[in-house]
Amino acid sequence: MNIVETESKYTSGVSSKRPLAIVRGKGAHVWDDRGREYIDCVGGQGTANVGHANPFVAEAIAEQARTLISLTEIFYNDKRAAIEEKLVAISPNHANRVYLCNSGAEAIESAIKLARYSTGRTGILAFMRGFHGRTMGALSATWEPKYREPFVPLVPGFSHVPYDNLDKAREAITDQTAGVIVEVVQGEGGVRPGSREFLLGLQQICRERGAMLIVDEVQTGFARTGEMFASEHYGLEADFACVAKSIAGGLPMGAVLIGERVKKLEPMIHGSTFGGNPLACAAAVAAIGFIERENLAGRAAELGEYMIGRLQRIESPMIREVRGLGLMIGVELKQKVTPSLMALMERGVLALPAGLNVLRLLPPLVIKKSDLDAVADQIEYVLNDTHESN
Ligand SMILES: Cc1ncc(COP(=O)(O)O)c(C=O)c1O
Repeated sequence: MNIVETESKYTSGVSSKRPLAIVRGKGAHVWDDRGREYIDCVGGQGTANVGHANPFVAEAIAEQARTLISLTEIFYNDKRAAIEEKLVAISPNHANRVYLCNSGAEAIESAIKLARYSTGRTGILAFMRGFHGRTMGALSATWEPKYREPFVPLVPGFSHVPYDNLDKAREAITDQTAGVIVEVVQGEGGVRPGSREFLLGLQQICRERGAMLIVDEVQTGFARTGEMFASEHYGLEADFACVAKSIAGGLPMGAVLIGERVKKLEPMIHGSTFGGNPLACAAAVAAIGFIERENLAGRAAELGEYMIGRLQRIESPMIREVRGLGLMIGVELKQKVTPSLMALMERGVLALPAGLNVLRLLPPLVIKKSDLDAVADQIEYVLNDTHESN
């Protein structure tokens, strides 16, 4: 079977695909169907923090698959109890409850609903360049017009103000605001860390005005930025922390970590058939255990600082800025990023865009320093090569 041809024929078409079929992974490396090896700085778009084919996660999944795969939340379960207890224990916001679901967008969707439920208000404030997912509620919080416009009318009650501008947020948060939804580091929007003053200021205004602060840790969670959650860099304690991506070692799962200001949630107001299924819960217990045992947060902090420094020393007129937090790294270019991504792929490195002109790296956190050196060398080569050929 020609994988690319077959998928091209039958896929919905909504993904922008690269002409490469990846069939295997190990740690921070993946292989295509011809056996060619790549250093993977796409990392499943941030879902592969513990590395591809992590043996502890694989074993937990296999064991749980032989024991019990599906069980809805109308019954209790050992693996679900374990992951709920763990998520509360590591929550950055002193959460006292957890809602389990299946993806980032679903976690966001849930927090939006629960913020409205808890406050009895309807307004949701979000930020320009923010990305929160593509279901109707999450899309209403997402800023990028290209994602939104084909689907209007979206959910009423949403507005956007500039990111990292506390004055504009202060003007926009009123006694009708149910929730304020923010990324600690904007991911899709260009790898932009928020300032301490902005994030803690939002928290204070929300508390003063009775609005719920919803922190989107979908991309920044599970050690990516050098702490278990990016909120910890600032002591940020949101009312809802939405997590997903790497929570379960690459299996689909999401969660909302619910703080004590959120009112009691009554049975049946929200739910999901697959949410909290034992298979995903067992994978999450194993993945989080691995992140803690291997101190992947410390590793991301150290390697991230090293890599950002390494990239900042690249001399290329094509680079506008290198920024990031931990191993969530963006190289803002003075040109469109797609040709550089394609050239990197040719040279054995897979990387992501963030918007039109930012090259984004989200490698598995188990990546070796020597691999990061190789990635930096290839980025330098490709940027200078592009420059010469222009
Ligand atoms: C910050 C952020 N929030 C939400 C989402 C949506 O997550 P999912 O694709 O799992 O629905 C993403 C996905 O990239 C994200 O980066």
